Order: sequence, then C-alpha cells, then structure tokens
Amino acid sequence: MLAKVPKGTNDILPEQIDCWYYLENKTREVLQNYGYREIRTPAFEHTELFVRGIGETTDIVQKEMFTFQDRKGRSLTLRPEGTAPVVRAYLEHNLGRENPLSKLFYIGSMFRCEKPQAGRYRQFNQFGAEAIGSPLPVIDAEIIAAALSIYKQLGLTDLKLMLNSVGCRKCRPQYLKALKDYFGEKREMLCVDCRQRYEQNPLRILDCKKEKCQLVIKKCPSIFEYLCEDCANHFNTLRNCLDNIGITYQINPLLVRGLDYYTKTAFEIVAEELGAQNAVGGGGRYDYLVEELGGKSTPAVGFAAGMERILETMLKQGIRIPVWDGIRVFIAVTSQEQVVTALSIANQIREKGISAEMDFLGKSLKSQMRTANKLQVPYVLILGSEELKENKVTIKDMVNGVQEEISLNDILAYLKKAYF
Ligand code: HAM
Repeated sequence: MLAKVPKGTNDILPEQIDCWYYLENKTREVLQNYGYREIRTPAFEHTELFVRGIGETTDIVQKEMFTFQDRKGRSLTLRPEGTAPVVRAYLEHNLGRENPLSKLFYIGSMFRCEKPQAGRYRQFNQFGAEAIGSPLPVIDAEIIAAALSIYKQLGLTDLKLMLNSVGCRKCRPQYLKALKDYFGEKREMLCVDCRQRYEQNPLRILDCKKEKCQLVIKKCPSIFEYLCEDCANHFNTLRNCLDNIGITYQINPLLVRGLDYYTKTAFEIVAEELGAQNAVGGGGRYDYLVEELGGKSTPAVGFAAGMERILETMLKQGIRIPVWDGIRVFIAVTSQEQVVTALSIANQIREKGISAEMDFLGKSLKSQMRTANKLQVPYVLILGSEELKENKVTIKDMVNGVQEEISLNDILAYLKKAYF
C-alpha cells in the first residue's frame, strides 16, 4: 500500500511553491517596512509554556495539542501558535533590555489536532507579528494596519475587520459575573459544550456557532457596559487612530478569541468567501502574558494570519501570482562523451545567475530536444564532438528556430546579452 500524508496535513508541491514564495516575500517586505524583525523559534516547546500561556480551559490546550514525551520523560508540544514561543524567546534572550519596544515577526508551521475541514488543518502555516513593550493604543492600530497592508499588497479585497475589547483584570470579572447570571437562567437552552464553558469560562460561550446557543447569545449583556475607564479609553483612542488612518471596522461585542491571554483589544479579519473557517487572521493585546511567563509586567499586542486561508482567498478572488520563469538554457549533448563538458558549462552559466539544465538519463539528442521543448527553454546549447575540438558549440534560439555556431568562450557573453 502506498504511504499517505497524515490526516490534516498537506504537501506543498513544486507547482504550488511560487504562491508560497510570493506570500512569504510580501510578508517579509511589509513587516520589515513597519520596523519588525524576523525571529525563528523551535517547532516544539515545553508543554508547560502553552498551558500557562494559552490557558488551561481553552480548546487548544484541552483538546488540540500534539504533546509527546522525550526520552527522559519530559513533556513537549508541537507549537499550536507563535505568541507564547516569541514571548518565551523575548524573555530568555532579554530582548527588552536593548529596546524598550521589541517588534518581532515570524513565519512558520503551527500544529493543532483539530477536526480537519476546508481551511482547517492539523499542520498549517502562519505569519505573525508581536510588538512587546508599549501600552499605547497607537501600536494596536499599527499592528492592525500592518496586517491589512499585507493583505492589500497581495491584492486581496473585501476583507472585514472585526473589533472588540475583552477588558482587563479589573473589569472582566464583573462582566463574567453578568454573563454567569444571564446564562445561568438559560443553561438548559445551551449545548453540552456551552454548559461546560459556563462552568469554566462563560466568555467562551460567545464563540459557539450552534444555532440554539446563538439564539441565547444574541441577547446577552455587552462587554461595553462593563469596561473600566482605562479599557474604554483605550478602545476609543484605538478607534480614533483607525478612523484617522482610514481603516474601516465593524465593532463586534461578541468577538472572543480562542486563546486566554487577551486583554483590551481583540480583532479578527475575515474573508466572507471562505465559508465556515473565514478568519484569515486575528490578534489583540495581551498585557499579562509576559508576566505570566515569568517576566516583569510588560504590555504587548500582536496578530497572526493563516497562510493557507490567504492563498485560498487569493485563488477565490482570481488574483494572479507571478510565477518562476523557468529554466533559461538547456545543454544538449550529441554523445555521452560530452556530458562532463556539459556539466561544466551548465555550472558556469548557473554561477552567472542564469538557470540551466541538462540531461542526466543518457537520452538521445532527439529526446533531449523534446525535454528542452517541454521545459520551454528559450535557448539550447548543442555540444558536438567535432565542434568542441574547435572550441565551438551550437546555440539554438527556440523561439525563432535560428541556430548559430559560437565560440565556447562567448557563451556567457551571449547569454548575458540575451538576459540582462
Ligand atoms: P488564532 O486566531 O488562533 O491566533 O490563529 C490566527 C490565524 O491562524 C487564524 O485567523 C487562521 O487564519 C489561522 N488558523 C488557525 N488555526 C488554523 C487551522 N487549524 N488551520 C488553518 N489555519 C488556521 C493565534 O494563533 C494568535 N497567536 C494570534 C496572535 C498573535 N495574537 C497576538 N499575537
């Protein structure tokens, strides 16, 4: 039986790779322009980091982590997200010492053992950015602007920004109490999961998509009636910043995120055409996470975006992605005696930054020409033993079919003229 990829994972094939290069390059370009520097953290961390960072009652920690033991019995987990690892690295390397504001970004695979469906995978790729050190709403606005700028540079349109505040340590307990009072009376109308959420964290109920729960959720108390002065001011200043830089948004008091570390700002960017899994990115402020992971109290804000979902939206919106222009020169031989010379010429051409290919299967000249045609190369160099004795090769222009003899020493100059 043929081996298959594990459920919820995907191969990215050579024919799809141009899209990924394009997306990664645009991401790096935009985030660097916004002053963010790339950081790379390991694919797995100590399990404890995610339990403390993401929160024990979240679906991610309770049901979705790929956790395993190393040979010494230590518990490790494939990273389900990038924020806790970035904060761990920030603290471990004392990045805050040199810069009171650390602006970091990452691109990489994340792992969540979710039920696979369109747009939801067990290994998926995210890019994300974290600004650690500023409490000001203007940095929340910058993070949102950076995320939107990437989508815009990629050509995406009609994305919606949903905005909310989830309060802080001071005001959230009152809101949670109000939710408990409200849902407590209607417990029997909620689904089994929500009844459990009611006990553990009633805020999570707001995220339930089940119709019968939605009917109850629709009329629940709004967080905006419970925000403390500090959180309300933060939210209003953020709105003001966004209005001023021309970013439109929809306030959604029911927007809660799947991770527990959020305070104040929470946001999501959705693409309607994606259906059920329509969030192409999300983030928010997490003012207590640094402290919870052992650092001193440090405010922070960030976002992450799902790269598979972005590519899917680009496809749905008919956005054309520039593709690699392929091999430029094929070196064909009339007999196997010339393969070493062919390899040497191919390498010289490649060193000049021009892509070159040759035959490695001992094929006839006719068959090599067929390969060159299939590769759609503009030029073929043909090495014949008689010509080589005179230090010459034949170059064939595959577009107009014209063939000419040139000196071995002139090959690079000829190709450079053609390509640069
Ligand atoms: P998140 O909302 O869990 O946030 O994930 C961010 C994005 O990753 C989602 O909006 C979605 O596009 C994509 N995503 C999540 N799960 C999957 C999946 N199973 N398959 C495909 N795509 C998925 C975070 O991860 C936070 N760390 C964001 C953040 C950064 N908050 C502050 N800083």
